[in-house]
Amino acid sequence: MTIEFTALPYAQDALEPHVSARTLEFHYGKHHKAYVDKLNAAIDGTDYAELSLEEIIRRSLAESKGGVFNNAAQVWNHEFLWESMAPARTEPSAALTAAIDKAFGGMDGFREAFKAAALGQFGSGWAWLVANGDDLEIRTTGNAGTPLTDNVVPLLTLDVWEHAYYLDFQNERNRYIDAFLDNLINWDFAARNFAAEKQAA
Ligand code: FE2
Repeated sequence: MTIEFTALPYAQDALEPHVSARTLEFHYGKHHKAYVDKLNAAIDGTDYAELSLEEIIRRSLAESKGGVFNNAAQVWNHEFLWESMAPARTEPSAALTAAIDKAFGGMDGFREAFKAAALGQFGSGWAWLVANGDDLEIRTTGNAGTPLTDNVVPLLTLDVWEHAYYLDFQNERNRYIDAFLDNLINWDFAARNFAAEKQAA
C-alpha cells in the first residue's frame, strides 16, 4: 500500500489574505509532499507497507524507528492541519462551546491559552486543541510529535514550524497565530472530531 499525497480540501489561494497561495504552494506542494515521498521510500518492501498511516505512526513509535515515525507523523499532522483551517467563517457547535466554556472560561480564554502555547513552543512543532475524555486541553508537540499516540482525541491543530508562516509573516509567529485564531479555524471540523470522540467514549 502506498501512502497517498491527499488533495488540499480547498484551492491553493482559498486562505488568502491570511495564508498566501505562495505559502501553500511550498508548504503543501513541497513540504507535505516530501514527507509522503520519504515515507513511501522508507517503507517500500518492509512490513510497514501493509499498514495504514495511523498504524505506521503507532508501530514506528513503539519500535523507535525515528525516520519512519517522523515522516509518517508529519503526513498525518499536515492532513489534519489543512482540515483545521477553512476559507469561510465557522462557529463552534453548542456542545463544543459548552466544553470551551468549561475548560477555558469562554472563547477569549481559549484564544489566550492557545496563543500562549503556540508562541511558547520553542523551535519547530505544533499546537493542538484535544479532547481528553470530556475535558478539552491545549497541548504542544515538538518536531513531528502528534497527540494521536497519547490517548487523546485531536480536534484542531496549528503548525508552528517556520515553513508554515515565514513567507507571509517572516519571524512574527504571533501575527500568524492571530490570523489563525481570528480568521481560519475550521470549527465544523473540530466539532465533528469532538462529536465522534463523545460517541466512541
Ligand atoms: Fe508544516
